[in-house]
Amino acid sequence: MDNQTDNPYPIHDLLRQRWSPRAFDDRPIEPEKLRSLFEAARWAPSLDNGQPWRFLVATKDETAEYERLFNCLVTGNQKSAYRAPVLMLSVAHLQFEDGSPNAHALHDTGMAVENLVVQATALGLVARQMAGFRIDQAREDCRIPDGYEPVVMIAVGYPGDPALQSDRLRAQEPPLPVRKPLTELVYSATWELPSSIFRQG
Ligand SMILES: Cc1cc2nc3c(=O)[nH]c(=O)nc-3n(C[C@H](O)[C@H](O)[C@H](O)COP(=O)(O)O)c2cc1C
Repeated sequence: MDNQTDNPYPIHDLLRQRWSPRAFDDRPIEPEKLRSLFEAARWAPSLDNGQPWRFLVATKDETAEYERLFNCLVTGNQKSAYRAPVLMLSVAHLQFEDGSPNAHALHDTGMAVENLVVQATALGLVARQMAGFRIDQAREDCRIPDGYEPVVMIAVGYPGDPALQSDRLRAQEPPLPVRKPLTELVYSATWELPSSIFRQG
């Protein structure tokens, strides 16, 4: 799906095609594709090559494991993710191996997730990240040790038919992702002073 029409400057097709649907097909993901998702995450850059990301993953056929993750989701996210064949939880290690604090662990974990999501797009899959989950329940039920921070749950699968969703969920599905204009996001080296790179010429 190419759902982005608002690109005043060209970007890579994979970035244009990535989106976060609420509708998933319940077809399983081939194991080799699933492994490639984590391989892509593995090659993300990180501060001092600390690689602070960890992933918990469950496929739907691992019923108890899948339910452990699914039950952590808030109800609204359960309603959109219930057909997804794979659930994941990203977790950030907040310390380096020597015990010193890693202030960029969340940043780096987000980069690993984006690698995973872009790889998913390349494989014809879709992914929806979800902050709406009970962190304390995930910590306890998934036995996440101290010093590790649950970051985001991710539903992954093949794109589904929105017609199979409830009317309310369909209404929530945005027709097109809306993005702020670059002038609101990119400044010169002085806060809010427009950068010269967007001047005509
Ligand atoms: C960290 C993060 C948390 C998110 N949490 C949720 C969530 O709890 N529920 C949900 O439906 N979507 C969630 N999303 C999806 C965003 O709403 C979505 O990425 C955004 O609307 C932009 O749409 P797009 O990804 O299709 O471009 C989350 C995305 C991110 C990156």
